[in-house]
Amino acid sequence: MTNASYPATRMRRTRAHDWSRRMHRETVLTPADLIWPLFVTEGTGVEEPVASLPGVSRWSIDGIAKRAREAVELGIPCIALFPNTPQGKRSDDGAEALNPDNLMCRAIKAVRDACGGDIGILTDVALDPYTSHGQDGLIDANGYVLNDDTVAVLVDQAVTQAEAGADIVAPSDMMDGRVKAIRMALEMNGHPNVQIMSYAAKYASAFYGPFRDAVGSGGLLKGDKKSYQMDPANGDEALREIALDIAEGADSIMVKPGLAYLDVIWRAKQQFGVPVFAYQVSGEYALIEAGAAAGVGDREALLMEKLVAFKRAGCSGVLTYHAPLAARLLNG
Ligand code: PBG
Repeated sequence: MTNASYPATRMRRTRAHDWSRRMHRETVLTPADLIWPLFVTEGTGVEEPVASLPGVSRWSIDGIAKRAREAVELGIPCIALFPNTPQGKRSDDGAEALNPDNLMCRAIKAVRDACGGDIGILTDVALDPYTSHGQDGLIDANGYVLNDDTVAVLVDQAVTQAEAGADIVAPSDMMDGRVKAIRMALEMNGHPNVQIMSYAAKYASAFYGPFRDAVGSGGLLKGDKKSYQMDPANGDEALREIALDIAEGADSIMVKPGLAYLDVIWRAKQQFGVPVFAYQVSGEYALIEAGAAAGVGDREALLMEKLVAFKRAGCSGVLTYHAPLAARLLNG
């Protein structure tokens, strides 16, 4: 970089006026950068606020369809669905994940009916909302999550979701080899245009607590997910995970959580040049809300500063529970 020295260079010159600041802005956030995660619950006309996620509710399918319409009107291109499976339908093997009439599949169809092709529907591929033990896969007698047995189920889950109308299947389970297996199954079952957004670099994080409350798996989970989700200390390993998922047929990759892993986002974008998405997870959302409530700063300013950081780091978009608020702010 070549800079003339002061006073030929005064960095503050271009910052002196609002028009100039706008003109020199390097990164622009738009509603098209947002993916809105939504929690689905059984019933009709049901809204259940999630205590640990102030401002976020689980909605019954009719409410989900309304939220999807709202997303379309706000210019949000995609929603991500997560089911709060009734406790009675959870089992050791998470078989409800393969029921073509489960909460997820019915929600996909309702959103499609309400919005047609105006919105992308992203679905989570993992067993934790369906298992009685809260792990993302099948476990052995010691509670170890079995890789290959789990992949076989995830493949069927992904195809079930694609048949119901999902546009993007997003495996969040961190099993080895699942992207390849899902890609082959989608090809063989007539879904060549269903995208895979893989949670390629997903960390064993302390920031997922409120999400587990929202899908009702928090109280069930024994132990942790460290034998499949990544060690937060590792960056090179994330690049290997990402390289593998791209090679196996992922269309885009995700880094999760978001803000504590901006270096991983940056490195992934620089190294692979693929679409990278960040998941600003439930704990990150809750911290912004708690911080604002505690007087740390203005909620909207705190939020927008964090969202633009993802884009600056190289993201194509961000999954955030703040999507509708951010879109409203961006739409002015
Ligand atoms: C599980 C899954 C999790 C999230 C998305 N999918 C939680 C976990 O791995 O335990 C977390 C999202 C959030 O915290 O907002 N397959």
